[in-house]
Amino acid sequence: MAKAPKVLILNGPNLNMLGSRQPDVYGRESLDDIEKSCLRHGKDLGLDVDCRQSNSEGELVGWIQAAREGHSGIVINPGAYSHTSIAIMDAILAAGLPLIEVHLSNIHRREAFRHHSYVSKAADAVICGLGSQGYLMALDAMARRLIAEQET
Ligand code: DQA
Repeated sequence: MAKAPKVLILNGPNLNMLGSRQPDVYGRESLDDIEKSCLRHGKDLGLDVDCRQSNSEGELVGWIQAAREGHSGIVINPGAYSHTSIAIMDAILAAGLPLIEVHLSNIHRREAFRHHSYVSKAADAVICGLGSQGYLMALDAMARRLIAEQET
């Protein structure tokens, strides 16, 4: 049987505060709850899911660069770095891996400064406004793509 494709799930700054951070906007689940659901769902889909969170732009860039070595795809919620980080966008372009951007909230219904994402310029797809379900949908799409690639 083919080896399960490895998918990196990255969460950016302040997402370690989920559960207690503005629950009206981001929901009541903790990051640990979300990561556990992603691991479970990934396993059901035949993916090997690897979850990491950092408040540091440089650390996220380093992980994206290193993903070329062992990962087949990336799901990222870059948090506020979505709106500011050319460095993360460039790292994604350099990595050349399938990448889906996720936001818990609908960034287009919020303040104008959240409407633009540098990461979206490098992403294959963007899911926003569906809360933690967005990560699971990103894994569904990633599985369809990566498992189809394995079969060809
Ligand atoms: C977020 C939206 C960003 O604007 C914000 O800075 C976050 C979370 C979301 O998941 O909705 O930290 O990425």
